[in-house]
Amino acid sequence: MKTEKRVAVITGSSKGLGFEIARQLAKLENIQVIMSSRDETQGLEARGNLVQQGLEVDYLPLNVIDDKSVVNFVGALHKQYGRVDILVNNAGVNSTKEPEESSILTAKLDTVISSFAVNTVGPLRMCQALIPLMKERNYGRIVNVSTEMASLNLISNDFYVIAPSYRLSKISLNGVACLLAKELKGTNILVNNYSPGWMKTDIGGADAPLTTEEGAETAVYLATLPDGGPQGGFFAEMRKFGGPFPLPW
Ligand SMILES: NC(=O)c1ccc[n+]([C@@H]2O[C@H](COP(=O)([O-])OP(=O)(O)OC[C@H]3O[C@@H](n4cnc5c(N)ncnc54)[C@H](OP(=O)(O)O)[C@@H]3O)[C@@H](O)[C@H]2O)c1
Repeated sequence: MKTEKRVAVITGSSKGLGFEIARQLAKLENIQVIMSSRDETQGLEARGNLVQQGLEVDYLPLNVIDDKSVVNFVGALHKQYGRVDILVNNAGVNSTKEPEESSILTAKLDTVISSFAVNTVGPLRMCQALIPLMKERNYGRIVNVSTEMASLNLISNDFYVIAPSYRLSKISLNGVACLLAKELKGTNILVNNYSPGWMKTDIGGADAPLTTEEGAETAVYLATLPDGGPQGGFFAEMRKFGGPFPLPW
């Protein structure tokens, strides 16, 4: 099923922010959305939900911490579409609720490592797997879902929970974007990170002020940047500022 449309991959899109990013991108003309999740039953259910809404989306299983799963995903994607244009690294974990996460002195190192595996190494693995395909057409838009809690410049006087595993892994995800942007300079493959704000999802909880509809908007903006758009940026949730707004690293 080769397509002339731009092919967009969204990791962890069976629920939460990823599901909404998939929905908003699928509503745009000229974008073929590939949803993905580690649980195939949940993923197919989520796809069915969007298909019922009249959206043409496809689905492939994907666990971003599993090399074999990523190899199988990329193989199936290549066979079916022969291209990838947009990658939204949305899949993430947040262990803030663990009591040990209230201090960097008590954070369990296993939790630090497992957070890095999903939030940092997972996106890097996806970039290493998909950027070669993007290079074939000299077109790519990579969006990493980070958080303003990962701004090193704000950390000394911010009011957020300590959450060492989550924050360290997202700080490193910001580093991944900086290094990629440096290497991709001069190409039409643009890598940017953003903070979706505090949203009502399984990670954000019911008290969060924002919806995923609001949080997804900046992802869609960055996933559809025109040629010559920003490279290696870190952006806040757009609505708060009425448009794209840079965050300090
Ligand atoms: N909610 C907020 O307030 C907030 C704020 C800032 C940033 N974020 C970021 O937004 C992103 C989405 O989170 P969310 O709020 O939508 O929470 P969520 O509903 O819990 O979604 C997280 C998604 O990541 C997937 N995932 C976890 N590990 C994975 C793996 N190894 N491989 C593939 N998928 C995996 C989950 O799949 P399963 O269902 O299989 O677990 C789920 O679909 C995360 O990167 C998070 O850090 C959220």
